[in-house]
Amino acid sequence: MHHFTYINGALHAEAVPLKTIAKEVGTPFYCYSNATLERHYTVFDNAFKNVDHLVCYAIKANSNQAVIKTLASLGAGMDVVSEGELHRALKAGVDPQKICFSGVGKTKSEMATALQAGILSFNVESEPELEALSEVASSLDKTASIAIRINPDVDAKTHAKISTGKAENKFGIPYARAKEIYAHAASLKGISPHGVHMHIGSQITDLTPFDNAFRLMHELVTMLRAEGHNITHIDLGGGLGVPYEEDAPPPPHPDDYAKIIENAIGDLDATLIFEPGRLITGNAGILVSKVLYLKQGAAKDFLIIDSAMNDLIRPTLYEAYHQILPVLESQNQLPKKLMDVVGPVCETGDFLAENRKLPPMQSDDLLAVLSAGAYGAVQSCTYNTRLLIPEVLVKGDKYTVIRPRQSYDDLIDQDQIPDWLA
Ligand code: LLP
Repeated sequence: MHHFTYINGALHAEAVPLKTIAKEVGTPFYCYSNATLERHYTVFDNAFKNVDHLVCYAIKANSNQAVIKTLASLGAGMDVVSEGELHRALKAGVDPQKICFSGVGKTKSEMATALQAGILSFNVESEPELEALSEVASSLDKTASIAIRINPDVDAKTHAKISTGKAENKFGIPYARAKEIYAHAASLKGISPHGVHMHIGSQITDLTPFDNAFRLMHELVTMLRAEGHNITHIDLGGGLGVPYEEDAPPPPHPDDYAKIIENAIGDLDATLIFEPGRLITGNAGILVSKVLYLKQGAAKDFLIIDSAMNDLIRPTLYEAYHQILPVLESQNQLPKKLMDVVGPVCETGDFLAENRKLPPMQSDDLLAVLSAGAYGAVQSCTYNTRLLIPEVLVKGDKYTVIRPRQSYDDLIDQDQIPDWLA
């Protein structure tokens, strides 16, 4: 469910025609819908309205200050994975007691910053990290509240690059070692183990892997409590998938996900923490681009557009499918042809869609790449010295640029000339 629809023959974001934004901001740009963001957050949050819980939005999915502030104003906490993301959360006014810090490679200086800020929890991923955190916390005379991330060794049945809960993945500690590592954690100065954490992957569209992982979570918490640990927080990570393909069956609704959780761990008296990223922002954003050329190749046609793999890397990195729509609705009636939608970057991997049936659009036509609100702008880069593109947030009939287009000076002036060349 999102708010990018045709109104009077033209694609709109809520009540704003995309053509208007394109005219004023230029293309390409990311466009987010406030109503969609709010709706997704609320649907997820409501799925757990009868249990003590905190939704910590995974900032990595879309870390624009306006997005963070929008979600924080609805009561969201944040899941951060770097000092940079921590700064983003704090700068947006997020209560530090609603911030979890995940990730396998936190540096001591990141730990110190988070301890000084007074965050809710460190999701610790290894023994050496535990030792380092104990050292940093002790030196600051602080206590770090921690959860330890358990790797349940379940197959999340998602793309290999975003699967995180298998034994061969770098994440978490093995279930079999939990007892020993929690005992060690409890003995360390400056460490207070109060929680358990799991996150098995992203874009998960089958509830079975969650069910398997969360049942193991039940066993784990029961065992740790029997060992005398005061486990008050259970962090179930993120990972629930969103619809990308118009013809595919829809992924499970948050209410069904909530039922799985209720059945698996509902009897454990604890605060549940969730870290959804994609579910909140994925379908709340699109990438709007302009056709440069329709090129007839020897083997197939290429729709060459003004955005590229540097703006949205998901298709080439994860073989991800993003629906593409012409901004002008009448073009949907034209006979469709099979083509690749490609950008100007000088690599064959530079595509936004391969072998896609699309109407024959022409130079200057606008198109929208849907479901680009999560892991879109945040994974963009300036390869081929292409500028980072603007982000626009729409609310009703208003829109505002929430990140301007970079300028060539912004980009090139970051380079510095050594003395010997000056
Ligand atoms: N919590 C942790 C510890 C994570 O590592 C992640 C995502 C999340 C929560 C949020 O997962 P979500 O609810 O968004 O599935 N760039 C990839 C996705 C990478 C996900 C990384 N971790 C993509 O575009 O598909």
